[in-house]
Amino acid sequence: MAHPEFKQAFDQTMSKCTVLTGISTTGRPHLGNYVGAIKPAIQASHKDDVQSFYFLADYHALVKCRDPQVVHQSTLEIAATWLALGLDTDEAIFYRQSDIPEISELTWLLTCITAKGLMNRAHAYKAAVQENVEAGEDPDFGIVMGLFSYPILMAADILMFNAHEVPVGRDQVQHLEMTRDIAQRFNHHFGEHFVLPEAVVDDDVAVLPGCDGRKMSKSYGNTIPLWLPEKQLRKSIMKIVTNSLEPGEPKQIEDSALFSIYSAFASAEQRGEMKQAYADGIGWGAAKQQCFELINSEISTARLAYEELIAEPSRIESRLQEGAARAREVAAPFMRQLRDAVGIRPLA
Ligand code: TRP
Repeated sequence: MAHPEFKQAFDQTMSKCTVLTGISTTGRPHLGNYVGAIKPAIQASHKDDVQSFYFLADYHALVKCRDPQVVHQSTLEIAATWLALGLDTDEAIFYRQSDIPEISELTWLLTCITAKGLMNRAHAYKAAVQENVEAGEDPDFGIVMGLFSYPILMAADILMFNAHEVPVGRDQVQHLEMTRDIAQRFNHHFGEHFVLPEAVVDDDVAVLPGCDGRKMSKSYGNTIPLWLPEKQLRKSIMKIVTNSLEPGEPKQIEDSALFSIYSAFASAEQRGEMKQAYADGIGWGAAKQQCFELINSEISTARLAYEELIAEPSRIESRLQEGAARAREVAAPFMRQLRDAVGIRPLA
């Protein structure tokens, strides 16, 4: 049974469809993050029938990163990015995971019912074991419990707010399946507390290639940072790999990383024009220049906002604190309900 107190907070905030997603705070925001996650999330947050929860997954960052300065700086940059790009924090609830102590509490409740066998099957963990085996190491070499338990923390992020939909990249779909599995198990033992969330993988959202043509990703070192000064942004775009075809020779849009990157920012009309220009033999230098101009025009206003925000971290901090307070209005009473359900409650 829902506590009356929780029910009230729930009805106020959650009568809408709850959409939730987290962003790990490792590394600098790049064009792939912008196109694939941040831009669609900000657009979705304007929908009337949606209550969105967007958060900085700084506890998740600790699994991979042991440099406090990097974790801290990345949190600052990623928070500033969302705000500079116009996330409306009156609509969306925007917070830092580590500001919600209830998430850690819930992680333990979930850890106690999660099958170890389920965690053994997680792709990221299995890949780490595989790498050790191939290198002739002990299978556990260098593997921390944070990596092993990563999906449980992620389940707690999602279940804490009973999210219905979780927009993620393909690589995260397994984590959502695990979250549903964990939620079901909890519900089975302790009553129907959790909604079973759905992963939302949007095939229309571009998976941006990086400079080398593979998916733009920190782990490949092929990213184009989002907030480069104009000149450097231009330079980075000039470095996108193409082939040796000369100006005047017709070019293929298929397998052209440059065309994909251009397309992610272009209107249908602009895309059609560029496609024609390829067929007509546009030179790579000219195509890159157009790509730079298009991207730059889309982000140059936000870049100024970003620079202002970064120079005043206290403004960002207070927005995050406001978000945390709103998130805890939901999380704190729900956590009391869950503690009660497992038998952790006052004796009299
Ligand atoms: N694991 C996600 C990623 O690497 C980040 C994340 C953490 C997340 N908690 C989440 C995403 C909860 C969605 C919901 O991209």
